[in-house]
Amino acid sequence: MKRIAVRDSDAEGDLSVREQLELYAAPPLTGRRKSPDGITTSELICTAHVGVNEDLFPLVMKLHVPEGSVVADVTHGLGIFWKKLPKSRYRLLATDLKMGVDCRHLPYEDGSIDCVVLDPPYMEGLFRRSADHLAGAGSYAAFRDTYSNGEGTTGGPKYHDAVLDLYFKAGKEAYRVLRKQGVLIVKCQDEVSANMQRLTHVEIINEYASMGFYAKDLLVLVRPNRPAVSRIKRQEHARKNHSYFLVFVKTGGGNPRGKGLWNGHS
Ligand SMILES: C[S@@+](CC[C@H](N)C(=O)[O-])C[C@H]1O[C@@H](n2cnc3c(N)ncnc32)[C@H](O)[C@@H]1O
Repeated sequence: MKRIAVRDSDAEGDLSVREQLELYAAPPLTGRRKSPDGITTSELICTAHVGVNEDLFPLVMKLHVPEGSVVADVTHGLGIFWKKLPKSRYRLLATDLKMGVDCRHLPYEDGSIDCVVLDPPYMEGLFRRSADHLAGAGSYAAFRDTYSNGEGTTGGPKYHDAVLDLYFKAGKEAYRVLRKQGVLIVKCQDEVSANMQRLTHVEIINEYASMGFYAKDLLVLVRPNRPAVSRIKRQEHARKNHSYFLVFVKTGGGNPRGKGLWNGHS
């Protein structure tokens, strides 16, 4: 059986999928939501932030995912999202294609996960048929290493449609493994592909709505530095210097504000 790294205050190291599921079978949710009932706070989390992933991700988690939740980060990569989160806060199941686990085929039972985190390669340049043509050459090699597994993409749709294909299939798989009212956090960025504006976040929201996800929140991350630019004759589209954290809830198309909305104490 494939072995998957689990990072948890009680369980450091590698556990098999079976061991992880046994460990997390009992309802672990003793933590509290962002603010206990009846206590007001003026420390609100806003929709737009200037900064980097490791600053905003903890705020998204704080707002939407109760402490103690079982969280499957299915494109864990270097684990940058988790850099500023204490290990004990969540029960993290960390997987990635580089570890041999494809986010389109997860090794979890139906309805067994509280939260899925999805951050696949977001730009078409990372889905080229030949590895030699992948975005991120020369001094940008670190970018390529972070954002992709460095291999060419064989078969399936091309260019921006290849980006969407992975988001859509991974979204469907997330829906399967999430418990009812479970949370799916998706990182994405829009792109101009073949000189056409592709609003990836809108495309994802529309597709996921048709699967039974409710788009509960959207946070915008604005990069603190200017994006690298190559000289061009005429600018047609504004250069993108922002990305998104989308927060979905698995409602099955039901009323997202209905009774039974999961609060981490079920
Ligand atoms: C943008 S990086 C993720 C960065 C990560 N969120 C972090 O905090 O370090 C994208 C990751 O998706 C992984 N990936 C690409 N295709 C995948 C797939 N089909 N299944 C799982 N992971 C995949 C890549 O190996 C890469 O590590």
